[in-house]
Amino acid sequence: MEDLRQLINASKLDFASCNSLTELDNVKSKYIGKNGPIAEAMKSMSGLSNEEKPKLGAIINEVKKGIEAALSHQKKIIQEDILNKKLNDESVDVTLPGIKRNSGSLHPISLTMRRIETIFHSIGFDLASGPEIEDDYHNFTALNIPESHPARAMHDTFYIDKNHVLRTHTSPVQVRYMKKNKPPLRIISPGRVYRVDSDATHSPMFHQVEGLWIDDSVNFANLKNVVQEFLQQFFEDDSLTIRFRPSFFPFTEPSAEIDMSWNDGWLEIGGCGMVHPEVLNQVNIDTESFQGFAFGLGVERLTMLKFGLNDLRPFFTHDLRFLQQFKV
Ligand code: FA5
Repeated sequence: MEDLRQLINASKLDFASCNSLTELDNVKSKYIGKNGPIAEAMKSMSGLSNEEKPKLGAIINEVKKGIEAALSHQKKIIQEDILNKKLNDESVDVTLPGIKRNSGSLHPISLTMRRIETIFHSIGFDLASGPEIEDDYHNFTALNIPESHPARAMHDTFYIDKNHVLRTHTSPVQVRYMKKNKPPLRIISPGRVYRVDSDATHSPMFHQVEGLWIDDSVNFANLKNVVQEFLQQFFEDDSLTIRFRPSFFPFTEPSAEIDMSWNDGWLEIGGCGMVHPEVLNQVNIDTESFQGFAFGLGVERLTMLKFGLNDLRPFFTHDLRFLQQFKV
């Protein structure tokens, strides 16, 4: 019986030297497993007298409890160690710098397009659009530029086939809109246009915004006023230097080009004029009752002036260092 009692201390020492739950399990079966001393002692009870049996039984219970207490004591220690190690390994150093997330931004041309739409919306213009692959009739003929007219040479055209082109300007939208809608009309139509053209101020794909106002008495003074009002709002400058230079477009009469002061000289930003009666005839608008003006502005040119750039080619090279400067 004394031998049995000593098992408690012996197991305490054994458990204390365990560093893992597996080791602990092994030591546990050494003492209270099927073939351990406690099991042996239980078996030996059958040979004892009725008086001795309860005495041994009580001691076995006491010893078993003692061993189990030593086991659970060490188990707690090991579990705490495991938890502390895990907490240590997974700890977050809140003083480390954060991970920088790059935010996207709109392309400068998109910023300009949105700005143009907002300003014209505020002065009562609706939005219209047309196809980028345009037929010869809408891109040229309906705009008073019949085949073999020398004005066709003004546009270096990308031909899709004999009858279709990548539109060279947004003016065909005028024709499409006037065919579908009766005057009075007041629209702008921003979009992509294409020409075989390439240098610092010319790109093969660029954007124009077309403007059209048809009513019973709209005149050239109104045209100048609308263009000036738009440019003053766009550049946030009430004393802009703008020049209307007499020019020629087959679809307007009289016609003018709009220049803005740039690098000690002028930069042409668009064309404009009073819609030619021949164009109004094509769309069945009565020229006795209605007249109006149209304009076409170069969006890349406006963006260059707005941001003080000398070259429009970086707009199309996707260099993030350039594009990131236009975050708003
Ligand atoms: C036209 O395209 C006429 N449709 C404009 C117009 C509309 C006149 C309505 C009268 C009435 P023009 O070819 O000049 O006109 O082009 C208009 C503007 O587009 C130019 O002033 C310029 O700012 C811009 N532009 C022309 N070609 C290019 C190009 N290759 N790259 C960038 N911008 C260009």
